[in-house]
Amino acid sequence: MEKDLEKLLIRFREEIGKVTEKEGFRKLRIRYLGRKRGLLTKILEDIPKLSESRRAGIGTKVKKIRSEIEETLSAKETENGFDNERAEIDVTAPGKKAEKGSLHPLTLVTEEVKEIFHRLGFTWEDGPEVESDVYNFQKLNMPPDHPARDVQQTYYIDDKTLLRTHTSNMQVRYLEKNKPPVRVLFPGRAYRRDMPDATHLPSFYQLEGLLVDETTSMTDLLGSLDFFARRFFGEKTKIRVYGHHFPYTEPSIEVEVLHPTKDWIEILGAGMVHPNVLKNARLDPSKYRGWAFGMGPDRLAMLKFNINNIRVLYNNDLRFLNQF
Ligand code: PHE
Repeated sequence: MEKDLEKLLIRFREEIGKVTEKEGFRKLRIRYLGRKRGLLTKILEDIPKLSESRRAGIGTKVKKIRSEIEETLSAKETENGFDNERAEIDVTAPGKKAEKGSLHPLTLVTEEVKEIFHRLGFTWEDGPEVESDVYNFQKLNMPPDHPARDVQQTYYIDDKTLLRTHTSNMQVRYLEKNKPPVRVLFPGRAYRRDMPDATHLPSFYQLEGLLVDETTSMTDLLGSLDFFARRFFGEKTKIRVYGHHFPYTEPSIEVEVLHPTKDWIEILGAGMVHPNVLKNARLDPSKYRGWAFGMGPDRLAMLKFNINNIRVLYNNDLRFLNQF
């Protein structure tokens, strides 16, 4: 049988040398590899008749010869400019599923907040993460010895430069360059020396809102935040507000939403822009007034998607990310 196989291969090599026509290749393929009467197929039929010891090894030999015949046929066909049959497109085959990416939950949340406030006339702008002490603190009514600086747990780069501890650094920066009326959001990263735990990381996101105009009041702030909460968490969402303290707003408030399973949860700080902050931006506080708020997209994402550990938002585990 091994001899038969060798002879077959020699014969094939001879015959293929003489073929140049498309039809010739087709016939040759059928003659050697045809499923019913192909020469190789015929030899295979005799395998069961062989003794077990002689049978061993024949399989691999047949495979080798079959692939040599197939490859030579394909190569010769291509060489002669004929498409070989195997390369033809099977239009009935099911399509291949393309891998496609998705947006990170923090991006989803940020985009949604932007969209909601866009309806109220807000645009947005990026700001520097490496910031001067002046815009992060001093212009926001926090002189060098102000006690409120302590809670910010700042990463200093040098005496005058730091990683911004909040997106409020953009308030005066923006007002210096843009005259009221102003309605703008400042999304971005902020940094604090926090010990990492389930709800804190040294780097996190904030989304600031700022409105300055000749006539606006606390009522507009509350109405806007209520509108936001209902759009973001659902029409029936309730918010509640209580007094707080920030050096750059007066009065200051904190806002909580009632989470369906978790009780009241704080989602943002806000207030009427402090007259000193307006002055620092070279605006006349007797003419202009404004309000500002700062919320945490990490917190919002955790509430919205029921995530209980902030770290999953940052460790790029595809098992988590693929759900979005
Ligand atoms: N900057 C405050 C914080 O980081 C939030 C805030 C923004 C408060 C704007 C009032 C006005 O917690």
